[in-house]
Amino acid sequence: MRAEPAHPLTGGGGAVAFGAAEPAWNNFQYRFTADDFARVRGFIYRNAGISLAPGKMDMVYSRLARRLRATGVESFAQYLDLVESGDPQELEAFINALTTNMTSFFREPHHFRLLSERLRQHRDQRQVAIWSCASSSGEEPYSIAMTALDALPAGAGVSILATDIDTNVLGRGSEGIYPVDQLPKIPEPYRKRFFLRGEGNNEGFIRVKEELRRVVTFKRLNLLDGQWPMRGKFDFVFCRNVMIYFDRPTQLAILERISRVLHPDGLLFVGHSESLHHAQELFRVCGNTTYALRS
Ligand SMILES: C[S@@+](CC[C@H](N)C(=O)[O-])C[C@H]1O[C@@H](n2cnc3c(N)ncnc32)[C@H](O)[C@@H]1O
Repeated sequence: MRAEPAHPLTGGGGAVAFGAAEPAWNNFQYRFTADDFARVRGFIYRNAGISLAPGKMDMVYSRLARRLRATGVESFAQYLDLVESGDPQELEAFINALTTNMTSFFREPHHFRLLSERLRQHRDQRQVAIWSCASSSGEEPYSIAMTALDALPAGAGVSILATDIDTNVLGRGSEGIYPVDQLPKIPEPYRKRFFLRGEGNNEGFIRVKEELRRVVTFKRLNLLDGQWPMRGKFDFVFCRNVMIYFDRPTQLAILERISRVLHPDGLLFVGHSESLHHAQELFRVCGNTTYALRS
């Protein structure tokens, strides 16, 4: 059993230890042992902050077996040697395979109602800056963009930074093409204004219009990175449904950094199951899963 090395952001080795008694998965195409799984857990924890629960062995097998096939290696042990050797392409593919990207347009709609109210009161000409820090495939930042373009008084501008660790979903977000069955999640008045319906080969898809695309910038950012490259502060930060994958020390370290990039009057939105009890010194409740800086 490998010792858990220190976490780069929190200093602790927070992933839960995995019992060594798990049988190898000999009935599957690739042998997957308890030691392999422990290596996966340690590596994704150190590189993305993600704490994989001990019960996720099947999920990890099915997500990584594709990478084993693609790289042509013969075992998990060989594949993990490749990832741990520092091959940057495979490290990216490994992280992409293990992230969970579930999202949708206007998910947790109360946040967008509050955002709209706040933006309607925006009086100065300063551009509003918003960060969606785990943007997945773009539904969240585009929902923010629609809300902002609708609510902001004429002449006021908005810029939305959409970041994620997973380069696959970022690519989908930049393309801005979604299955047409997503339309019902988008408020009716926004559908025609902000989307084009595909025809011919593109039948069955919708595409965000230029007006929306223009205000959203997609960039890769690992929340664990030592340096966050942005300058200036954000009026709103959406950090939703990502902290559930992190342990408490990692959450706290990230929340502390978010508090430093949030405007003094800004708001932080978190996911429905992500309370900030442990960060009460930094944030105070300001609505349903909505927080403001304490000081
Ligand atoms: C479940 S999705 C949430 C998407 C969106 N915020 C929402 O609430 O609908 C979680 C996202 O967090 C991203 N993620 C996981 N670990 C990350 C990290 N260390 N840095 C940045 N993004 C991360 C994943 O790639 C995934 O796209």
